[in-house]
Amino acid sequence: MEMEKLVSLCKRRGFMFQSSEIYGGLNGFWDYGPLGTELKRNVKDAWWRDMVSGHDDSSVPAAAPDAYEMTGLDCTIIMHPQVWKCSGHYDLFHDQMVDCRESKRRYRYDQIRGRWVEAKGERIFVTTVAETDREEEDTLSRALKYFNLRSKNADQLQWDGKFITLPDIDDLSRALGPDARTPGSLTEPREFNLMFKTTVGALGGEEDVAFLRPETAQGIFVNFRNVLDSTRVKIPFGIAQIGKSFRNEITPRNFTFRSREFEQMEIEFFCDPKSSNRWYQYWRDRRMRWYVDLGLAGDRLRLREHDPEELSHYSTGTADIEYAFPFLPPGDFGELEGIAHRGDFDLRSHMEGKLDENTCPLELEKGPDGKPKWKGSGRDLTYRDDATGERYTPHVIEPSAGADRATLAFLCEAYTEDEAPDEKGEMKPRTLMKFHPRLAPIKAAVFPLVKKDRMPDIAKDIYRTLKPHFAVFYDEKGAVGRRYRRQDEVGTPYCITVDGQTLEDNTVTIRDRDTLEQWRVKADACLEELRKKMS
Ligand code: GAP
Repeated sequence: MEMEKLVSLCKRRGFMFQSSEIYGGLNGFWDYGPLGTELKRNVKDAWWRDMVSGHDDSSVPAAAPDAYEMTGLDCTIIMHPQVWKCSGHYDLFHDQMVDCRESKRRYRYDQIRGRWVEAKGERIFVTTVAETDREEEDTLSRALKYFNLRSKNADQLQWDGKFITLPDIDDLSRALGPDARTPGSLTEPREFNLMFKTTVGALGGEEDVAFLRPETAQGIFVNFRNVLDSTRVKIPFGIAQIGKSFRNEITPRNFTFRSREFEQMEIEFFCDPKSSNRWYQYWRDRRMRWYVDLGLAGDRLRLREHDPEELSHYSTGTADIEYAFPFLPPGDFGELEGIAHRGDFDLRSHMEGKLDENTCPLELEKGPDGKPKWKGSGRDLTYRDDATGERYTPHVIEPSAGADRATLAFLCEAYTEDEAPDEKGEMKPRTLMKFHPRLAPIKAAVFPLVKKDRMPDIAKDIYRTLKPHFAVFYDEKGAVGRRYRRQDEVGTPYCITVDGQTLEDNTVTIRDRDTLEQWRVKADACLEELRKKMS
């Protein structure tokens, strides 16, 4: 599937718009249109229902080590700045960036790709930030321009090796920046903190600086004690949160895949250190199954365990659920969700702070005494097991998903082109979105075949009966074949049509989006039929 086709459908049918588009847009920010809002809400609702509200606290789910409880939180976006100091984000949440002295643009160091090329006795590293499916074309035209060659002389360019990223080359002075005319305009890489800064209150001094949260997880950790004290939850249990997060990404790209404002769906699962490895396995597999059950099956979805050298110093296991997004080069996968075994790192950091280089062997800002300077809350975030009397700092398993990335993956997976008969029975190309019925923004459309003979009245009655239960759509405009196609294109799984036969026997046709199969049911049985189909 070509990504342009999906992007154009998303705009044309109201799934997604660029933010502030009438003012030229704002890079890295996206708005969801009427259908996109429903789709993303369905993704978040499915996650909340499957992980939290629909979870049965009293039985042991298949493959789980034990029965467990799930509960939720809704925390603020701006939190006490100390949270980010103790979490490590203040000191460590960096990307490396390079500036171009010529174009005055800034790029993420590891995202600039390019190739070595030689012509007329000079060797340069031609770079690009074009989408990967265009990088070949873009670097060729830049190299031709630089060496002042015409396309017919492209064979004078001696390409050396595959596309690599800037960190893989040792001589930046030979790199031709993505928007530069001469090599050597890129600065050495520098660190850039990804948290958005703001000020709280009217004074606006340094002490009033605060940050927009870069993840929802920390709200859960700092409320761990509150949840324990205000509910009767017992370990093992999970706290879930869905909410906005903000990261000042240096190069947002690939539609909503890397945005500066996005939503996360995170669980922090607290368990006894003795069983945490088993809980890690459970959550890894449970989360993978969730995507499969909602339609992301096949070889475009994979679960990838991190190699030991990829793991954070506190983690004994991390896996990513990845999807082969169509904007990536063939064979490449992009992260949908990470499932991390975080040990007791987070609760311990918020209790004790980062005062000891041995428990936190990271490069942290130092105080006057030369010690890392962030103090924890000093609160007791340990847990006492009533049955055994044992006290410990719980281990955490963190399945952390992106609502926008999941929505994008469901959009990519749903996009299908096939052929279907039109009204005259001729096979014509059609575009359809094969959303899982739970995710489809509209579950059913109701049509009168023609606008006469009481058909619109009967169709509206059916529509009104269904509306309190399902997102349904009524349409009486244009040829019925075109109405079907419009619904196929937004992924409506069922279309209900009132026709001549309805007037005789009170039955209507129901058409299946994917199989095109049509069958008749009594007009007053539509609700039951849809319920059966959706379950
Ligand atoms: N608490 C752990 C955490 O935040 P992460 O891997 O940085 O881990 C988790 O983020 C998920 O959030 C990612 O797998 C992705 O789905 C989503 N995400 C992260 N950065 C994003 C961005 N800039 N745009 C869209 N989604 C993003």
